[in-house]
Amino acid sequence: MDRSADYSSQGSPATARDLTVLGLETSCDETAASVVRLTPGGAATVLSSVVHSQIDDHAAYGGVVPEIAARSHVEMIAGVTARAMAEAGIGYDGLDGVAATAGPGLVGGVMVGLSFGKAVALARGLPLVAVNHLEGHAVSARLGRPVDYPFLLLLVSGGHCQLLEVRGIGDMTRLGTTIDDAAGEAFDKIAKALGLGYPGGPALERLAETGDASRFDLPRALAGRKDCDFSFSGLKTAASRLAHACETDRDRADLAAAVQDAIARQLSDRSDRAMKAWAERHGRPLKQSRPADETIGKQRLFVVAGGVAANRTVRATLEAVAARNGFAFLAPPMAYCTDNAAMIALAGAERLRKGWTSDIDAVARPRWPLDEASALADPTHRPGRKGAKS
Ligand code: KG4
Ligand code: ZN
Repeated sequence: MDRSADYSSQGSPATARDLTVLGLETSCDETAASVVRLTPGGAATVLSSVVHSQIDDHAAYGGVVPEIAARSHVEMIAGVTARAMAEAGIGYDGLDGVAATAGPGLVGGVMVGLSFGKAVALARGLPLVAVNHLEGHAVSARLGRPVDYPFLLLLVSGGHCQLLEVRGIGDMTRLGTTIDDAAGEAFDKIAKALGLGYPGGPALERLAETGDASRFDLPRALAGRKDCDFSFSGLKTAASRLAHACETDRDRADLAAAVQDAIARQLSDRSDRAMKAWAERHGRPLKQSRPADETIGKQRLFVVAGGVAANRTVRATLEAVAARNGFAFLAPPMAYCTDNAAMIALAGAERLRKGWTSDIDAVARPRWPLDEASALADPTHRPGRKGAKS
């Protein structure tokens, strides 16, 4: 159970009534606010979800510029929050708490949302819940439909790439993580080398449609290792070098297809290992999966979340691996795969349900592993100037 320094248990668990929570998200390049209602039975309703994307502010630079992001969050947060409250159709008196992302992320942006959340909490006499952004992604599948714990999660975005066993809020074990870059970062950097715009993932997917994935032989990272860790920096370097040498549209399309294939293959290879490890731990025989919509909550479940889950090749490859291992497959609706505040509001509401709130002096954390126990026991990046990224 995660009860890190930023959490302090105050009051008793609220079990008997609906909880309505305002969520705020400012950890990267989206300013977002949302109101979510959680029933005592665990069903979540999104009353509003407003996301202001800063893509246009950063496009000219080919990536997110932290200083520009923080300034834009300052300009947008009040208006985005007001819209979320208006669309939810409730006043501040209708809220039971305020949840704000407290990390990990670009710390200038995190401070904006967290400080704004503290101001709302103080002004309205509401409890504050400082939420780990990754915990938001981890619960995001529960926004689309009722989903029972536990499940196996692949979180794959621009900043994160990890496999987690999710047993409940604050009760997650990291099974593997990237030892260098996230998969989305590899998509973005290689897309940039191919002359595509930011964010590169969707553009690279479009280019790959006409390509032949077998033409380029790209490095296979960590092949043969028994753990569930990822590595994308070798692929990123090799593919970027090849991209600069591409002469024709045909070359570029073939390289894009090979990159997409290599990333999908690595994600599904490690997910396959995690599923087999899960099956060994939980001791149930593997069986053929039935359609996810009939069976969520009744059988083992594999969830993929984060922006890279939008990629159709990645999705199809993962879905096939899940079916082979007897797991139902679920990806949250796209709006809740990429960064949003509904997932933060839900994580906040689930914490509030348990009576876990935060002190008003909760700090913004640029790095904040979700499962601190395994991050400390097996630090992929040693603590220090860099620390564990995700
Ligand atoms: O979850 P997200 O919106 O933000 C982070 O928390 O990072 O993920 C953004 C990442 C970017 O790297 C973007 O290129 C990638 O998700 N992405 C895709 C696709 N759509 C978004 N990558 C590959 N194919 C896509 N269709
Ligand atoms: Zn994210």
